[in-house]
Amino acid sequence: MNYNIALLKGDGIGPEIVASAVKVLDKIGEKYGHTFNFTDYLIGGIAIDTKGEGLPKETVEGCLAADSVILGAVGGPKWDTLPGDKRPEKALLGIRSALGLFTNLRPAKLYPALKDASPLRTDIVEKGFDIMMVRELTGGIYFGERGRRQGKYGEEAYDTEAYSVMEIERIARVAFETAMKRSKRVISVDKANVLESSRLWRETVHRIAKDYPEVECTDMLVDNTAMQIVRNPAQFDVVVTSNMFGDILSDEASQITGSIGMLASASLGDNTRGLYEPIHGSAPDIAGQNKANPIATILSAAMMLRYSFSLTEEADCIEEAVNKVLEKGYRTADLCGDSGATPLSCTEITERILEEI
Ligand code: IPM
Ligand code: MG
Repeated sequence: MNYNIALLKGDGIGPEIVASAVKVLDKIGEKYGHTFNFTDYLIGGIAIDTKGEGLPKETVEGCLAADSVILGAVGGPKWDTLPGDKRPEKALLGIRSALGLFTNLRPAKLYPALKDASPLRTDIVEKGFDIMMVRELTGGIYFGERGRRQGKYGEEAYDTEAYSVMEIERIARVAFETAMKRSKRVISVDKANVLESSRLWRETVHRIAKDYPEVECTDMLVDNTAMQIVRNPAQFDVVVTSNMFGDILSDEASQITGSIGMLASASLGDNTRGLYEPIHGSAPDIAGQNKANPIATILSAAMMLRYSFSLTEEADCIEEAVNKVLEKGYRTADLCGDSGATPLSCTEITERILEEI
């Protein structure tokens, strides 16, 4: 088959990690007889610098015309002082929204080879964990009304968390459908003891749960969830939550896998076109030094094969190759800790993964 993929390399380490994912896809194409055609589009700081805006029209059009999209990362210190609606991050929210990608799947699982890289106590790590975080991606406080105004104590700023029944229903359905293919457990995370938007979230999730009688659905408050993720991550299977809670909890979940450099994500909407990106940022401190861990982006490419193109065998092949490379003890700098392993560069670990494919 022939697939057209839009590449949004973005800023910082973005171009390096996307280059690794491209090499892996080319290798998969060779092995299984597919052709992946890649077209670059600008997004983020680099788009601001060259086109005067973070999300140029051609980028949105290019992504809409593509079969799927791979994104590196956006942002960096150079653009940190721009007003909120001109920042590179705004472009990322813009493309998620423009493509209607309301679902964000963020799998956080422990690779047995990385047990030592996890900061958790051995007895906790021994039990393993495999969490599928289902984050709502185009609503909530990220997209609610915000601004500055005069308040009781002078100038104040506000951001609004708002969720409609429709938005909660559709993400809840994704979570239950996902759970049906896994161990049939959903934990819905909210702050219903304080927030009205969370009370609607909870009510709505429970209503949708009735359509999935086989799935066990439990509520958990977000503060407790933050604690449980480090206390007993094995209790989680599918976790469904709002845009902001999902942002925060997925970074936490990534740490216990050993490194944020391991966590892939798939952003999906109503059709098969998705946007696949690592959950980490642009890491400006190591940009251009060939030190970045490309695994999260490579695993995101595997998610693209699985979710957008239904190429299950090909996706499994990439995941197994990553696993084998880790089992053989190869590590990028972020995964070394005090293990004494010699860190491989971004291109070196990519080569090891290509060899396994
Ligand atoms: C993520 C990132 C983004 C988010 C930022 C860069 C806007 O942290 O994908 O988790 O908050 O969604
Ligand atoms: Mg984040």
